[in-house]
Amino acid sequence: MTLRIFVPRDAAARAVGADRVAEAIATEARRLDLAIELVRTGSRGLFWLEPMVELETQEGRVAFGPVAPADVPGLLALGPQAAKAHPLCLGRPDDIPFLKRQTRVTFARCGVIDPLSLADYRAHGGYRGLARALSLGPDATIEEVVRSGLRGRGGAGFPTGIKWRTVADTDAERRYIVCNADEGDSGTYADRMLMEGDPFGVIEGMTIAGFAVGAAKGFVYIRSEYPDAIRVMREAVDIARASGCLGAAADAAASGFAFDIEIRVGAGAYVCGEETSLLESLEGRRGQVRAKPPLPAHKGLFGRPTVINNLLTLACVPAILADGAERYAALGSGRSRGTMAIQLAGNVRHGGLFEAPFGLTLGEIVDEIGGGTANGRPVRAVQVGGPLGAYFPRALFDTPFDYEALAARDGLLGHGGIVVFDDRVDMARQARFALDFCALESCGKCTPCRIGSVRGTETMDRILRGERVAANLALIEDLCQTLKFGSLCALGSFTPYPVMSALRHFPEDFSHPRLVAAAD
Ligand SMILES: Cc1cc2nc3c(=O)[nH]c(=O)nc-3n(C[C@H](O)[C@H](O)[C@H](O)COP(=O)(O)O)c2cc1C
Ligand code: SF4
Repeated sequence: MTLRIFVPRDAAARAVGADRVAEAIATEARRLDLAIELVRTGSRGLFWLEPMVELETQEGRVAFGPVAPADVPGLLALGPQAAKAHPLCLGRPDDIPFLKRQTRVTFARCGVIDPLSLADYRAHGGYRGLARALSLGPDATIEEVVRSGLRGRGGAGFPTGIKWRTVADTDAERRYIVCNADEGDSGTYADRMLMEGDPFGVIEGMTIAGFAVGAAKGFVYIRSEYPDAIRVMREAVDIARASGCLGAAADAAASGFAFDIEIRVGAGAYVCGEETSLLESLEGRRGQVRAKPPLPAHKGLFGRPTVINNLLTLACVPAILADGAERYAALGSGRSRGTMAIQLAGNVRHGGLFEAPFGLTLGEIVDEIGGGTANGRPVRAVQVGGPLGAYFPRALFDTPFDYEALAARDGLLGHGGIVVFDDRVDMARQARFALDFCALESCGKCTPCRIGSVRGTETMDRILRGERVAANLALIEDLCQTLKFGSLCALGSFTPYPVMSALRHFPEDFSHPRLVAAAD
């Protein structure tokens, strides 16, 4: 009998040797004359256990990790049943506590299926959402998304159904869908994992969006730093086209609705994740922010009404349509409905992707799920929501992870990234980093951000050198007010979040004697 073996081809797994493990498996199987089927999957998102290898047994799949090439002969010699006693055996993946505690809706197939097998995708519920959308019609599809309570996962949390309705209601002979896969936030990788692990889910989500608003063309804008995701998405689009799911001649489920997708690659600017500079970039110009109004929903790509959604937002849609808005809306807390792909990064023991309904507290996420720091030192701070997100001290770890609760404590959820720092972090340096990041990534369109971020970095340098600390801190606070209220886009107006939260929650790191001591 052929033994099925699953090894991730996700970039994170490859970075720690998954390809070498896959080669070792193929070599050893040849040596043993063992009939195997090696399936390269996405990752399940338990990065500290990668490369995580799974063997198919009579009772389903059993996981092993982290597997090194040297472990392979021993594992294969045992065979799938006896291998369950191997020290690297983790048991059934669904029983691993990190996975067991999750509610996987958007990531249900990631790490499970062969990402480039349309048959596998369909066998795991793929294209059920589109079939239901086609049976409901465009208006009812939008209504379903509205009722699900889905909000944009790109940062602002704008209600997705309302955005779609605006685009559908705007008079135009042509409309577009743009999938934002620029994923520039520090500590985030959910978009990448989905592109590499379940690309047809993204394609189906975009197709449903196209059907709902009357768009025949979509673009996926992927950051250049994601070569694996770019390759997988390109291949998936080709496969979808060849099978009639995409393309001008496609007639999705014989409905007469044709939709096509083009993959575009960014050139490495954080600000190109901002929707209007992304549009500039897509149109072939330098990525610079456009003034709003007009909103992209009214006048977006090539001047046409455009849905711009984060990749995760679009990937949530197939499950919402397939299983109904109520099922999705039943999850979550307050106005934050559904599940969120929490991404744990930085100095954390169990770094990885954890999909759960909104509402877990930061303490539960960092201490229980993340297991504290990787080096065992105390957790001192977490930054939530990317480089423009606030730092939270331990005292605020009772904050629920949802849009409103984080905002009520001057934070933001962003794209769901949480970066963990131990007790050696210097928050004055982190504050400087935020201003420097803004200076580096500023598109230059407005003065507070273009000039203010540079002056802010210089002022922070003076503070770090212990020069007129009180006066310079007052200057920083003043500058943050200017950035917050005077910037054209959130790059400038949100930079005060990390800076001010560092100052507010960790004032001891900005105190004069400490800084002078550090400078010595
Ligand atoms: C500086 C900056 C960078 C951004 N980067 C991203 C990004 O990488 N990915 C993303 O989806 N949204 C990003 N956004 C948010 C987008 O402008 C936009 O709100 C989002 O794509 C809308 O999709 P959603 O409604 O699904 O969230 C960024 C915003 C700003 C101000
Ligand atoms: S805030 Fe910065 S990135 Fe945004 S428009 Fe102004 S200069 Fe450009």
